[in-house]
Amino acid sequence: MVKSTGPNKIKTAVFISGTGSNLKSLIKFSKSKKSPIDIIFVLSSNSKAKGLNLAKKYNIKNKTFIFKRKKIDELKILEYLKKHQINLICLAGFMKILSKDFIENFKGKILNIHPSLLPKYKGLNTHDRVIANNEKFSGCTVHFVNSKLDAGKIILQKKIRIFKNDTPIKLANRILKHEHVLYPKAIIKIFSNS
Ligand code: GRF
Repeated sequence: MVKSTGPNKIKTAVFISGTGSNLKSLIKFSKSKKSPIDIIFVLSSNSKAKGLNLAKKYNIKNKTFIFKRKKIDELKILEYLKKHQINLICLAGFMKILSKDFIENFKGKILNIHPSLLPKYKGLNTHDRVIANNEKFSGCTVHFVNSKLDAGKIILQKKIRIFKNDTPIKLANRILKHEHVLYPKAIIKIFSNS
């Protein structure tokens, strides 16, 4: 993992596909003294993602790649990231699956947040499945990204109780609030050992 040496913060990109509430919490965190990261780039896989407005609001460079020609797009992205010396990627509600080659190129430097207690409930529709299975607890996880979906080394998790009257939407909203706290905490955790 890259170290945060000296006064320079780690140049970070956040990859999004939608609302960008995690992006918002990461931007706020990045502006605090305790943050080892500086967000200098936002990538969206969707030109209509609300999160792009946040990037614009905070004057962060942003681009949309729709991953239609995945290989070509990924090469362009890697080129951009290297050119701008970006050393950390935070996936935050990013709905595309990055290729093995891409991940190899950024080994140990890509993080993701997933709304479940991994290794349980990898993939999509987490909250529906959790409720359908009458689970008592769920939560969120920040982990390193490897080439297997939602399977990289876990950095931090937050466990929360599921209530009897919870619906997937209620649960998703409650967990999302915890995500906003957990992601910055996980970043601090990684770099505090550097
Ligand atoms: C979050 O729950 C994230 O864990 C999941 O998608 C949601 C994205 O929310 N992968 P937002 O775009 O950060 O608001």
